Amino acid sequence: MSDTPVPVISTTGLFTPENSISNEELVASFNSYVELHNRENADAIAAGNVAELQPSSVEFIEKASGIKSRFVLSKEPILDPEIMCPRLPERPDDEISILAEIGVKAAQQALAKAGRKPEDVDAVLCACSNLQRAYPAIAVEIQDALGMGDGFGFDMNVACSSATFGLQTAADYIRSGSARSVLVINPEICSGHLNWRDRDSHFIFGDVATAILVEAKDIAPASHWEILSTKLKTQFSNNIRNNFGFLNRTHPESRDDADKLFVQEGRKVFKEVVPMVAQMIIDQADAVGLEGSDLRRLWLHQANAGMNRMISHRVLGREANDDESPTVLDTYANTSSAGSIIAFHKHNRDLKDGDIGLICSFGAGYSAGTVFVQKVG
Ligand code: COA
Repeated sequence: MSDTPVPVISTTGLFTPENSISNEELVASFNSYVELHNRENADAIAAGNVAELQPSSVEFIEKASGIKSRFVLSKEPILDPEIMCPRLPERPDDEISILAEIGVKAAQQALAKAGRKPEDVDAVLCACSNLQRAYPAIAVEIQDALGMGDGFGFDMNVACSSATFGLQTAADYIRSGSARSVLVINPEICSGHLNWRDRDSHFIFGDVATAILVEAKDIAPASHWEILSTKLKTQFSNNIRNNFGFLNRTHPESRDDADKLFVQEGRKVFKEVVPMVAQMIIDQADAVGLEGSDLRRLWLHQANAGMNRMISHRVLGREANDDESPTVLDTYANTSSAGSIIAFHKHNRDLKDGDIGLICSFGAGYSAGTVFVQKVG
């Protein structure tokens, strides 16, 4: 018998900001900005020197993406046509940073559900799309704020796939004996990286934080999720990109910085990522002796309802219903790495002992990660 420790997901935690923005509110503010821009630039538009902006529409957003609203940390400034970005004041160095703060809230929930004390956790991985500074690592700040004491933490960024890459890393630590209890935390303040003036993408993202407690099976709570198999994949693409970084500082309110915020070729992403991810799931299922029909639930990355419909159709061989492939896009929008974890967090309690499911992420890089899990207890 192998002595290799078995990694499991013990619990998860979720922090949701208080405020949300509906499509109606978002489009009303965007269209005020468009009117303002077109009025102020009427002469230049008439002379052909400035492009006339087109209004956004609630119907388009819902049909194209499945998104109906999004939670944000700073609502009013985003909706102010003169500002159109969150206002999250810089904090002094002796105050907890906002990314760490929301990560800690999600982590505390996961720890409380497991009855685990922070000092029993060996490692914390802050796995997310956008880190607010270069160093010290946000993960180390979270380690300190939680009161973990010994152990270690580091940040990792694989964009929308950060959580599944973190899950495999944590599972490998458990298997190798480097750690017995690992927190994977995904704080996502996507509102700070979204171009709220860009009609093609202004509706896509929201803010949230999730946490996943990954542990060795012998110390986990009686009810947990055994990690059966994980697989990661990356393949370079410029179709989703954000050039913000310490070598090209900018300010989000500047109007000349569109490429320092999120940009994408949405259609290309859709066409290229759907077949890549569906095939990856099918191949990995096959490698571990599973068929699509063995999967009780798919907790897919939450970027676009149409993408999820197509991926689940290819995996199951038929259309998935909401119970088989739940969505949180309608209320949370795309929350980058946290999306599939929110879906898992909110939609796993009804599964029974022995049920198998799949957590799957995909996004910029391109990057994709699949994690097959089985309910125990
Ligand atoms: N309101 C109204 N119309 C809009 C609009 C808006 N906010 N944004 C775009 N349109 C228009 C376009 O101008 C275009 O008009 P045209 O046909 O006259 O040229 C039409 O709607 C279709 O635009 P398109 O960009 O092709 O839409 P789409 O159906 O591809 O949907 C996305 C856009 C972004 C929702 C979709 O491509 C997507 O979700 N892709 C995957 C994204 C993804 O997963 N990204 C990962 C991020 S981490």
